[in-house]
Amino acid sequence: MTNQFRYIGPISQLLPMSNLPEKGAIEDKELRPMLNQGVLFKNDKIAAIGNHEVVLEDAKSLKATIQNLTEDYVALPGFIDSHTHICFAGSRAGDYAMRNAGKSYLEIAKNGGGIWDTVTQTRKATQQELVQLIVKRANILTAKGVTTIEVKSGYGLTIDEELKMLRAIKEAQNLTEADLIPTCLAAHIIPREYKDDAEGFLKKMSSELFPILKEENLTNRIDAFIEEGAFSPQIISPYLKTAQEMGFDITIHADQFHTGGSQVAVDFNAVSADHLEASTEKEIKILAESNTVATALPGATLGLGCAFTPARKLLDNGATLAIASDWNPGSAPMGDLLTQAAILGTFEKLSNAEILSGITNRAAKALNKEDRGILKKGNIADMLLFKTDHYNEILYKQGKLLPAQVFKSGKLVCENIPTYDI
Ligand code: NIG
Ligand code: FE
Repeated sequence: MTNQFRYIGPISQLLPMSNLPEKGAIEDKELRPMLNQGVLFKNDKIAAIGNHEVVLEDAKSLKATIQNLTEDYVALPGFIDSHTHICFAGSRAGDYAMRNAGKSYLEIAKNGGGIWDTVTQTRKATQQELVQLIVKRANILTAKGVTTIEVKSGYGLTIDEELKMLRAIKEAQNLTEADLIPTCLAAHIIPREYKDDAEGFLKKMSSELFPILKEENLTNRIDAFIEEGAFSPQIISPYLKTAQEMGFDITIHADQFHTGGSQVAVDFNAVSADHLEASTEKEIKILAESNTVATALPGATLGLGCAFTPARKLLDNGATLAIASDWNPGSAPMGDLLTQAAILGTFEKLSNAEILSGITNRAAKALNKEDRGILKKGNIADMLLFKTDHYNEILYKQGKLLPAQVFKSGKLVCENIPTYDI
């Protein structure tokens, strides 16, 4: 294969998201935008970033395709949505209406709605139908600048149905540009069939499903929902231990309504603990002292009308904060990472550096992916161009200023006609 070079420049401001602290608060001045930059892609990787005139010369000698920018643009790494449930069928608009009319999420779940409702609808869907739904949702996210999307199973809850979901995610990868990072969430809730035997259910999943996940290379990540009405820390521990022994990365739905999950996440050295709306000082401290990324899910706050994750406190105590959409049919139906991250920032008083880092380099850490989230030589060429002269405009427009161009693995995969660039 011959090498394909592509040059883009001059870029008015480029935010590499490099040299930022891995943990704790970040001040905006640490963003250090690079001015008048040129970027050279070699196939799917970044080959060079530097002064426009200098890199352009190299590009010309390599016979690169030159994309000459004649207006102001800001460049950022492609966004990373490190927590979604976009593999699902059906709608839970009824739950949403009931919640707004006063019923709680846990109450609706107890009465047979909630996650179980989506399990029923997803079991009825064919693998092909799920593939189409994932692709549609992934494309919506990509158009908004998301080039890496984590996707969970968890609405199957039998071996075959979980496999159907994970195989659908794998197949969808061939039909969409964004990278899909699959996660097995067989421990989402206790299925009806195992109502009084959560341990039996988990045992079956870990002994029979986990080996197939390895064999078919379906995922290297295991998630569990630790909550009243789902799984307790005690019951989930042997399951996570098996996962850990088999070499899976662990991530946890933690402290959404009650505490307990983040301690498990830290005990198992999980890559991330997500939700954390109910975390208190104690949980904040243990997360901050750990290597586990604390992931805020503002979409769930907006979908449920409840508290935001204490993002400010997590950062001030020294935690690594990622921000993800949690797009799912129940708690987080919006599916708009940039809007949600911007809104979390206004309520939690986050710097632009902290917000942008939460959906780029720190989200990459939550997924254990070192090849993205930062614009630097050697990384995957996932890059966004926003038509504006200052990066502050992006979060100020609260998700309405979409990237004019989205590059995934060196390829232009999406163009938006800029609105709100005023
Ligand atoms: O992250 N809390 C558990 N799981 C999802 C919601 C799933 C659903 O309601 O369908 C979440 O919010
Ligand atoms: Fe979730």
